[in-house]
Amino acid sequence: MDWTVGKMDAFIIKGKSSLSGEVDIHGAKNSALPILAATLLSGGVCVLENCPELSDVENAIEILKSLGCKVRREADRVIVDSESVSTCRVEPELMHKIRSSIVFMGALIGRTGCAHLSFPGGCELGPRPIDIHINSLKRLGVVIDEKHGHFSCTTPNGVNGVTLNLPFPSVGATENIIMAAVTSQGTTKIHNAAREPEIVDLANFLNRCGANIYGAGEGVITIDGVHQLHGCTHRIIPDRIEAATYMAAAAVTGSTITLNNVISDHIEPVYYVFREAGCSIRTYKNKLLIQSPERLKRVKLIRTLVYPGFPTDAQAPVMAMLTVANGTSMFIETIFQNRYKHVDELIKMGANIKTEERVAVVEGVKSLYGAKVAATDLRSGAALVIAGLAAKGETTVTNVYHIDRGYEQLTENLRKLGADIYRTTIGE
Ligand code: EPU
Repeated sequence: MDWTVGKMDAFIIKGKSSLSGEVDIHGAKNSALPILAATLLSGGVCVLENCPELSDVENAIEILKSLGCKVRREADRVIVDSESVSTCRVEPELMHKIRSSIVFMGALIGRTGCAHLSFPGGCELGPRPIDIHINSLKRLGVVIDEKHGHFSCTTPNGVNGVTLNLPFPSVGATENIIMAAVTSQGTTKIHNAAREPEIVDLANFLNRCGANIYGAGEGVITIDGVHQLHGCTHRIIPDRIEAATYMAAAAVTGSTITLNNVISDHIEPVYYVFREAGCSIRTYKNKLLIQSPERLKRVKLIRTLVYPGFPTDAQAPVMAMLTVANGTSMFIETIFQNRYKHVDELIKMGANIKTEERVAVVEGVKSLYGAKVAATDLRSGAALVIAGLAAKGETTVTNVYHIDRGYEQLTENLRKLGADIYRTTIGE
């Protein structure tokens, strides 16, 4: 896939089709990105199975190649040989392509003892500080010199295990600390660590490579430094946010669909919202069946929280779904400062939403109407697709390159389920 093409691509959706059938959930973007960075630590050949084909993932692969790794893709497997890493410098153009490139900081420090990279900066979701990453790495003995958004990280006295208490359980900071610490001297303890399933996946991958990481998925993670790692084969966990997005697609169209390749424990934090809205959810092994009523009910309160709370990444798609529910739903976004950019676009489609700072009040309307709307970030783009599926008439979603960052074959999958959606190229 040529990802540069996506810049001018749009999705055209004719709403009101009912969905049915099955959809296969892909590997998790937010697992694949840190694990790709972590392949640097192995110094050998790593085979990542179930690795999604997304522009963010391909950009992470470009960074690995620029560092001297040999990388190739065979269908859903990505094979990384990181034996011949030749530099610890990532060029700013590559850093800026993906926000999560910051996890290369910990991985490069762990592998080479140095990292020269620039900060990806703020983003559509508001300011994205990295103070917790920087302060924690400094405590591990990393000397960090920052000038104009460029970071030079060196380890004149090596990386040394220490006990850290994070002020907030940041996902990215927890990943950076783990990666910097796996090959350190001594033991590192992370108190108030992030507990997201993607952290557990990263730890499982690294342990398969020979690391000694305990407690991932719990509040305290312990890392006993080891001298060296080796390659391994690892299967990336399914994407819980992609799953929640397809659930919203089923719910908003009053449909019954089955999701294949899910880990239901990981999606459980969103169940109460769908159930309160009137959907029934049944799981069996790695399958999830969602049945939806003709009209959804309102959900009293959805507060985004760190795992195992309701995920911020599902907030926008679920809000789109509740715009047509019977009654008033309320959201409180506690994780990001500015994650309501989809609201203005949903209002263009007839939604009745009021926001004030971190609160959004959604008064359900009988129907949305097709309109030309623009994705402002990945999840806002997904929300507009959900809204388009429920709307009367035709919706055009532009800027779909945002959606390509995190949803593989979204239009193809929805079409297979019965939606009337296709991708087209439009003039700028
Ligand atoms: N924060 C700080 N200082 C830091 C780090 C974070 O103040 O040093 C704040 C952030 O500004 C934000 C909050 O803490 O307000 C959460 O940030 P966190 O570090 O936990 O998030 P992240 O690592 O930057 C990952 C995902 C996001 C997801 C969040 C929260 C990846 C690549 N990204 O981001 O995914 O929303 O965790 O779960 O794993 C997405 O997929 O759409 C997405 C944005």
